[in-house]
Amino acid sequence: MGKMGKKKTISGFSKLSKIGKIKWMVENFFKDPEIVMRELKSYWLQNEAQQKIIDGFSENTISNFYLPFGVAPNFVINQKTYCIPMVIEESSVVAAASAAAKFWMTRGGFEAKVLSTTKVGQVHFLWEGNGDKLIQILEPLKTKLIQEATGITKNMNERGGGIKEIILIDLTEKQSNYYQLKVTFETCDSMGANFINSVLESFAKTLVQFIEASDLMLGKEKEVDIIMSILSNYTPNCIVEAKVECPIEALNEAHPDIDGITFAKRFNTAVQIAQIDPYRATTHNKGIFNGIDAIVLATGNDFRAVEASGHTYAAKDGQYKSLSHCLIENNTFKFYLRIPLAIGTVGGLTSLHPIAKRSLELLENPNAEELMKITASVGLAQNFAAIRSLITTGIQKGHMKMHLSNILNQLEASEKEQEAAVQFFENKVISYQEVRTFLTDLRSGKLSLSQ
Ligand code: MEV
Repeated sequence: MGKMGKKKTISGFSKLSKIGKIKWMVENFFKDPEIVMRELKSYWLQNEAQQKIIDGFSENTISNFYLPFGVAPNFVINQKTYCIPMVIEESSVVAAASAAAKFWMTRGGFEAKVLSTTKVGQVHFLWEGNGDKLIQILEPLKTKLIQEATGITKNMNERGGGIKEIILIDLTEKQSNYYQLKVTFETCDSMGANFINSVLESFAKTLVQFIEASDLMLGKEKEVDIIMSILSNYTPNCIVEAKVECPIEALNEAHPDIDGITFAKRFNTAVQIAQIDPYRATTHNKGIFNGIDAIVLATGNDFRAVEASGHTYAAKDGQYKSLSHCLIENNTFKFYLRIPLAIGTVGGLTSLHPIAKRSLELLENPNAEELMKITASVGLAQNFAAIRSLITTGIQKGHMKMHLSNILNQLEASEKEQEAAVQFFENKVISYQEVRTFLTDLRSGKLSLSQ
């Protein structure tokens, strides 16, 4: 620490080299700078070219933050078998997805279909004048907007996508002078954020010029104040549905303690509760996103966008509800998930991130619609596993097993000690403190391995 003491602010930080950045940070924020510096450097990739690619995804990067990359095999979706790549830091999620996949594998697997694929973007602007005039110029304006954006849309048009619709929305009753151009897009196999935003910014520029040049507009009417041009992450018309169903008797093996009909009824009630109660619905949907986020991350897609859209969709009826639904009809158990998923298999990180690329390869290079179907099925599997657990043994048993194993690893327990701990804590509450005491007792001879 220098004479001036620790310095928590800096200008020109982004211009420093990577080492320079770490040095400044460790010297000013850590008690043991040398150790932290060494540790952060130890997480750098050996392969400098690959490290450069990862660094390029963000700014001010100083190291890598590791998350486990796991796989869940045995997913049968539309009769095709997949091994699902999952990136998640929470224990039990991958195990639960795998168990649900295996369960449904012998009961027809998952059926998934894409219901719609369009996305929306908006130019939000203020304009003062007689709104009828905007309606009058709308058709020639649209032609001009599309014409001026052809440099951006040409490739997408060739791939079968592009701008599908432009509408003008008058929101002046809610906010004076506020209008929107609401634009619908088809972005094929890409998530499309860059494409949509570029088109919208071009639209905004054209809109300003067009109105200024219009003979119909007089005085102030010639002025458009563009507030912002941005895609909407809410994609209620980019929807996929995943479903499982089986005769009630086929649920007899769902859990050893209850028969199929009891299981189906309890399961159905649990889903209904998530339809009724937003507190439960939030956790229920969080469980769905445990699976969805994991594959979305593994394939280099934007999990924040997917989450945001999913939660808005869950509240589309005016109350936040379960994204999944359950039915028991004619002795058949049906469980399905309908969810917006704006994800892609080209562009963005999908082909830049070395592991995302491998994830897509593992899925046999799906197109965007296939990836939507796979992802929704994983969400449904995750939800099935969680509810199965909750309505029977509860989730803590499985969680505690993983928790114990994490604590034992942290405390560097040997294999023999781990086995003894598993036996010892079989019916006991697990905490870090308890496990540490157990190991201390074991190591000091106070407890013996066979106890
Ligand atoms: C935990 O991450 C997810 C669950 O809470 C989901 C649920 O309650 O349905 C188990």
